[in-house]
Amino acid sequence: MKLLNPLNSKQCLKGQIEIPPDKSIAQRSVILAALAEGITHIQNFPQAGDPQSTLKAIENLGIKIEANSQNKELMVHGGLQNLKEPTDILFLGNSGTGFRLILGMLAGLRSFGFASLTGDSSLRSRPMGRVVEPLKSLGAKIYGRANATKAPLSVIGNQLKGGSISLKVASAQLKSALLLACLNASEPLLLDEPAPSRNHTEIMLKAFGADIEQVNNLSVKLKPSQLKATTINIPGDISGAAFLLVAGCLVPNSEIKIMNIGLNPSRTGILKVLTSMGAHLQIEQTSSAGEPIGNITVKTSSLKGIEIGDSLIPNIIDELPILALAAAMAKGKTIIKNAEELRVKESDRLKAMSQVLTNLGVQVEETIDGLIIEGLNHKPFQPKSNIFSANHDHRIAMTIKIASLLCTQPIKLEGAEWANISFPQFFELIDNLTL
Ligand code: S3P
Repeated sequence: MKLLNPLNSKQCLKGQIEIPPDKSIAQRSVILAALAEGITHIQNFPQAGDPQSTLKAIENLGIKIEANSQNKELMVHGGLQNLKEPTDILFLGNSGTGFRLILGMLAGLRSFGFASLTGDSSLRSRPMGRVVEPLKSLGAKIYGRANATKAPLSVIGNQLKGGSISLKVASAQLKSALLLACLNASEPLLLDEPAPSRNHTEIMLKAFGADIEQVNNLSVKLKPSQLKATTINIPGDISGAAFLLVAGCLVPNSEIKIMNIGLNPSRTGILKVLTSMGAHLQIEQTSSAGEPIGNITVKTSSLKGIEIGDSLIPNIIDELPILALAAAMAKGKTIIKNAEELRVKESDRLKAMSQVLTNLGVQVEETIDGLIIEGLNHKPFQPKSNIFSANHDHRIAMTIKIASLLCTQPIKLEGAEWANISFPQFFELIDNLTL
């Protein structure tokens, strides 16, 4: 149990900080580097749990990865001839991205052979049929329990046929798994999604030399391509920054500048939502090559409730727990809808946030696809019980830490270490910003 103390009325959050590198981009970089001919240089690869699980799995597929700790650079010796049948089960820990993308990659490698993939209990309970089914429709050979809808899953590499696929869920993990699977397909792949999801795979495939084209904001076309090694620089993770942005808004007299954050428009919905709630954000883009990068300054703001839903949801999918906390402090009601995907993340995040907010003394209604939250208009949280649980979920652990700053009394958090999945040193960083 970790004891979390509230801030007193004289304390605030102030400073200039860097956030851990983006875990979506990081995991893609090491997977694509494994497929690419030559040595890929990856700058700023994160130490967090998920990227490290994916890195280990790629090493267990026979790929040599050298680390230069001085300049935080990885050198990945990629190429199809280097990928070998693993001698043991690949363990992806908590990482849905690592699991689904590596499954897709292996499913489309004709002469690769056999591999089994598994993960922790959260990953083993997550839906895999959504990725297995479209892969199988293109000729993939995937086997597993519950009719191959749950990990562990086994795959035998095969050449897929390409063609047209319309995804039923707006999910970058599904889209990416299919794109990777079709790099060596016999025909091009035309892929549609119901709403735009993050496009890091498309941007990175282009950087690795793939013949890929965004047809419109919902469809992408990939022609079979051999990837070539390149250099990837990983920006700070906007999903990690989101916790600091909300903390900066909610803690009185605060000002935080977050440096070198990824500002890919398929991820910046959080900035739009916070701005419509009344947040004082200053955004300065510093580079636009490939993935846009910049600095964000946040100052204490008086927030108001809003309605959040529709096609914006995939853009803010990982930020919804901390946005729900922002809503709990805002003035008036916030309605979050069309967010049923939150039920199949690392935990059921609608249920988890409903429990956390209820325990914080907030009036909240859990609906099938969202939450209805009555904001406290910046009055402190009065916890009903001082025991909170991270629910085995990194984003819930970090949300509770931010909530604790604004409570009337200290609280205890069970499972604080889950934050390491995406943001090691999160608790220390918040404490260091406290003046
Ligand atoms: C991710 C996509 C999202 C997100 C996850 C990371 C990715 O999942 O929730 O944390 O790296 O592609 P879905 O694609 O399943 O929505």
